[in-house]
Amino acid sequence: MRELSSLTEMRSWSRAERSRRHTIGFVPTMGYLHEGHLRLVDRARELAERVVVSIFVNPLQFGPHEDLARYPRDLPRDRQLAEARGVDCLFVPDTAAMYPAEPQVRVVPGPAADALEGTARPGHFTGVLTVVAKLFHIVEPDVAVFGRKDFQQAMLVRRMVQDLDFGPPIDIAATVRELDGLALSSRNTYLSADERRSALVLPRALRTLEQTWRGGEADPTKVQRAGLEAMHAPGVIPEYCALVDENLQPVSRVTAHTVAVVAARVGKTRLLDNVVLGEGIGADPRVTP
Ligand code: PAJ
Repeated sequence: MRELSSLTEMRSWSRAERSRRHTIGFVPTMGYLHEGHLRLVDRARELAERVVVSIFVNPLQFGPHEDLARYPRDLPRDRQLAEARGVDCLFVPDTAAMYPAEPQVRVVPGPAADALEGTARPGHFTGVLTVVAKLFHIVEPDVAVFGRKDFQQAMLVRRMVQDLDFGPPIDIAATVRELDGLALSSRNTYLSADERRSALVLPRALRTLEQTWRGGEADPTKVQRAGLEAMHAPGVIPEYCALVDENLQPVSRVTAHTVAVVAARVGKTRLLDNVVLGEGIGADPRVTP
């Protein structure tokens, strides 16, 4: 496995691979890799001959009072996991290389970025899209794989590629869960044992939303109320429970295609999850952490 930190070396590596007729699949991450990230690697491997994973904790997407400084990092472990999974190139730029100066020009998404995560994290998706645009320009992939776990992010990245006519097709991979249903997340490491138990309100709310809709309820307000009720647990502050379409717009009628998106604060940790109601979380891949 190659490991590169220079932007120009990364671009040269990609171009050399392409000149050998190898297509490049790309998985951008912030590291502290878990099985969710590694399934994206597997998917990228199915779609392309070479797989590049980037690890960069992007300061631009963290608000001033968020967890940038304490975001979990463990490069030696990430390196081992990536290598064992057959990653061809690990791209680990440092902040000074990515942002030699405060970036003046940024990729600002439309109003779909202001709802849901955007309400709690103003400017977050501008930071995400700006770094993803930079990474696409540096890595020049043929395809990029994102996780459905961050549904709004994946949709906005797709929209950026569509609206700005650059970047690769965006493949979206299923959310990987622990056996009890909790979605894997680098931030789960913040949870105490009690909080870990309370965090199960998220998959529980998704199951409740699905069951309410399957029970014949198509009124989004009523389905949403059932979901919010299921989010009550000690130490949990529900943030939102929304029923949206693929464009992140609130639906007027709940259908099998409706996406239920939930977020809650468990202690100091914000957790997110979502499900397509017609699919349910039952079909998502499960692993022991
Ligand atoms: P990060 O949180 O490290 O996630 C990297 C990728 O892994 C994202 O596409 C995310 O949706 C996916 N992912 C995380 N948990 C997952 C799970 N349980 N199952 C499946 N996929 C999962 O998302 C980011 O980093 C950053 O915002 C980034 C896109 C790298 C830009 O900085």
